[in-house]
Amino acid sequence: MCGITGYIGDNKTTDILIDGLRRLEYRGYDSCGIAVVDAKNRLYLKRVSGRVDALDKLVAADPAKGAHSGVGHTRWATHGAPSEDNAHPHTDCSSEVVVVHNGIIENYLDLKDKLLAAGHKFKSETDTEVIPHLIEEKLKSLHVQEKAVRSDMLEPVFFEAFRRAVADLKGSFAIAVVWARCPGMVLAARLHSPLVIGLGKGENFIASDVSAFLKHTKRVVFMNDGEMAAVKKDGVDFYTFQGKKTAREAVTIQWDSTMAEKGGYKHFMLKEIHEQAEAVENTLRGRLLPLGGDILKAEMGLSAEAMKAFSSVQFIACGTAYHAALVGRCLFENFGIPAYADVASEFTDRAKLMAPNTLVMAISQSGETADTLFAVREAKASGAKVLSITNTVGSTLTRESDYVLYTHCGPEIGVASTKAFLGQLAAIYLLGGHFAAVRGRLPGGDARRYAEDLLKIPRLIEETLEKETEIAKVADGFAASEHFLFISRHINYPIALEGALKIKEISYVHAEGYAAGEMKHGPIAIIYKGMPLLAVAPSGRTLELMAGNIEEAKARGAEVIAIVDQASQKTVKASRYIVLPSTDELFTPMLTVIPLQIFAYYVALAKKCDIDKPRNLAKSVTVR
Ligand code: M6R
Repeated sequence: MCGITGYIGDNKTTDILIDGLRRLEYRGYDSCGIAVVDAKNRLYLKRVSGRVDALDKLVAADPAKGAHSGVGHTRWATHGAPSEDNAHPHTDCSSEVVVVHNGIIENYLDLKDKLLAAGHKFKSETDTEVIPHLIEEKLKSLHVQEKAVRSDMLEPVFFEAFRRAVADLKGSFAIAVVWARCPGMVLAARLHSPLVIGLGKGENFIASDVSAFLKHTKRVVFMNDGEMAAVKKDGVDFYTFQGKKTAREAVTIQWDSTMAEKGGYKHFMLKEIHEQAEAVENTLRGRLLPLGGDILKAEMGLSAEAMKAFSSVQFIACGTAYHAALVGRCLFENFGIPAYADVASEFTDRAKLMAPNTLVMAISQSGETADTLFAVREAKASGAKVLSITNTVGSTLTRESDYVLYTHCGPEIGVASTKAFLGQLAAIYLLGGHFAAVRGRLPGGDARRYAEDLLKIPRLIEETLEKETEIAKVADGFAASEHFLFISRHINYPIALEGALKIKEISYVHAEGYAAGEMKHGPIAIIYKGMPLLAVAPSGRTLELMAGNIEEAKARGAEVIAIVDQASQKTVKASRYIVLPSTDELFTPMLTVIPLQIFAYYVALAKKCDIDKPRNLAKSVTVR
């Protein structure tokens, strides 16, 4: 939630900040702004209620003169409605200290009361605005009077005032701040909200994630919780919140900046749907054969002995990642391994009740989802080991986990998760195969067959994607519907949930995903004549039951669109079919979800919705 950019160097500061914001817009997009210090040490501040394009126009109409440092922000509102006044950056009373912030300052009401009593004037309803006023207050306490500080003392004074202000904050924050009187240094601090420093030559960058500055540098330092950074043109120093200097190593990011561009597609979502075969292939590559755990031991230190010893697996995740978790639960249970899946925000008391030696598997594309991180902390506090499945190198989740398995999907920009989901499924099948093999559940030939079938999935995904035009036509026919039902069973039940989530989030229509067996326990009552019902019915152990459920829905007037394979098509009677290539029943979720993603995309397109930036949503949900 919310994207932060910061820059210091000799290139055009406003362009760099705005370009970075454009690349972070997926994190929040209800308002945005930038602030830079111009050549005369004056603060230049522009904010808009709306998108980065509007900010760009505003800046172009009245450009800053000679700026070499500044900060930017694109917002997903928490405290205070989306408006220009509530947009970041926020300033102190003197309009010299300017702050951008991601996260929530939990004690802001207390701080605000004190600052109001001290005479500070507030201009917004945000929690963030306490930060610049607090820094101003700390500057005063360091006896910074009008122009009274020696120029060589400005940086240490600014740093100390910031450090003291940060020490007063409770909650979660990533902060970047400039002080107009000290334009040679941008300060940053991080606690439970991501922040990364990009190291350039004669220039340095700050951002919520690397995609903001990848085209300038791939050398980065992921800031730790409880860490501050003093970012200057020629170098960056890191400190603890107590002011102790720390040594940090830079890492080089493998992602290419073009990966975060649309590459000729109308939307990131469609591009990312088409990148799914690659996402699965990259996630599986070199990690599958031979099944038995040695590969996992080498990659993440998880030994075969440990895999054997875990009593059960507890998945935790949110949203689409939770649907991957549900697939994981079915898969592990299929191998006789007790498995549970919970939405991270509802994990609550479960952490304390887990069986001894449970392995927690946390799934998160961003690795920054606050609910997932909180649940992981609870699980760790109860003594569990945590294995995380994530797409984001250096994310908070990776640092709080005992074992990390990266999905290799490349950056996912569309708010509606698609290729990250396929990457998560691939990682789950990979882990499931290794766990089953070491626990004797996939003996000999079975293990080989499992791996071979899994390795064929990228090609089958490509074949499925060839159905795009056909699926688009079906979607067009239902674009005016306001209600959609999705049903399936067992390992495809999570796919019904995912189909409903996709269409809800990008088309704003009412959609429900149900376990098909549940329909006659209530939901069947909502079916009316012509209601679109998407039934995921591949060949397998639940097919006969699914065929019966489809008949029941049709008898009440539902227009059934069946997602089938050639064999199951013979059993299922529907108005329309989307016929997928065949694979082992266990692996079908990696194919069946694709027509549902494409269907949701084309319904949203027909409705002219803002597909990559759906209303009210943000890509990375870093508040609880
Ligand atoms: O980054 P995460 O995987 O932890 O994100 C979890 C959910 O917020 C995310 O999957 C969300 O549900 C997507 N917008 C769904 O398309």
